[in-house]
Amino acid sequence: MAASVGCGQQGGSGVTVAKEVFGYADGERPVYLYTLKNANGCEARITNYGGIVVSLTVPDRTGKPGDVVLGFSTLDEYLKGHPYFGAIIGRYGNRIAKGRFTLDGVAYTLVANNDENHLHGGLKGFDKVVWQAEIVEGKDGQALALSSLSEDGEEGYPGNLSVQVVYTLTKDNELKIDYEATTDKPTVVNLTNHAYFNLGGEGSGDILGHEMLLNADRFLPVDAGLIPTGELRPVKGTPFDFTQPSAIGARIDHDDEQLRLGGGYDHCFVLSDQGSPITLGARVYEPTTGRVMEMYTDQPGVQFYSGNFLDGSNVGKGGAAYGHRYGFCLETQHFPDSPNKAHFPSTVLRPGQTYSSHTIYRFSVR
Ligand code: GLA
Repeated sequence: MAASVGCGQQGGSGVTVAKEVFGYADGERPVYLYTLKNANGCEARITNYGGIVVSLTVPDRTGKPGDVVLGFSTLDEYLKGHPYFGAIIGRYGNRIAKGRFTLDGVAYTLVANNDENHLHGGLKGFDKVVWQAEIVEGKDGQALALSSLSEDGEEGYPGNLSVQVVYTLTKDNELKIDYEATTDKPTVVNLTNHAYFNLGGEGSGDILGHEMLLNADRFLPVDAGLIPTGELRPVKGTPFDFTQPSAIGARIDHDDEQLRLGGGYDHCFVLSDQGSPITLGARVYEPTTGRVMEMYTDQPGVQFYSGNFLDGSNVGKGGAAYGHRYGFCLETQHFPDSPNKAHFPSTVLRPGQTYSSHTIYRFSVR
């Protein structure tokens, strides 16, 4: 069984959030770095630029702290561009085919930023927004609330969309992410976080030895542009079956059409236990450090991305180049291209409704 272990001195019972300047966007606008700490000495550092989780420090089985997310130590490196390390993704996580959809009979055209398709909110998605930030009092102590207004027409989307994302580090070594959004016109929304995890520690190597359980008995096959074909395919008998724990690398190079199209895993999995309250979607174990990460969500899907596009061109916080498959993402979300797939769960948000989504990443050791 997994057990929680503290990684430092026991302090008071509350979680604290401290604020410092991280750098300047557009040469003048201050951007902040918030450090969330719990009484176990675990720590999450989050910036209001893109809502990026810059670092996440949790203990290994000997109690030694380690940073388990990929990222940079300076704002400038994030400003230069990167593959969405730790960022909030919106308005729409993952792809919308040809950047087009029709809602209530009106055709909308979004920015195409991934060949002919729209990916992760467009050219300036929520990963590049300087969010309003506020330290708020939660159940466990302090938390970080980020908010932003995405204006009608931004990247082609209809409606003024008001978004709030609350990051909470709990006393149980969980990073909790709660998303909410409202609109003044019918629109589509699909928010997520794009943290790349490496439970062996960022920069320590590839993630192929991590053992993963995914509570998903179907996945969404894709076409050559990584757009779901519309089929919900059973994982049974395929390299996509993680219903029993399996090393991420065990079958990743199998001769399989879907693995070829994704260059590895880059697919949305259909979670088997859906809805509220939130349920276990994944459990990942890293054998050398003993770290375990559990992911809980109320979303219907999770995009499991095995870091196939990482190519060593980004040098991380600890000085290591992030090579092929040095991190994996578990992006909780509705399915990609839902606005064009009537049989997928709806991502439509209407005036008067509140979009909400909840995800927890829980850390322990074995
Ligand atoms: C998502 C996509 C991938 C890729 C990464 C970022 O996971 O599905 O295809 O775009 O983001 O590189």
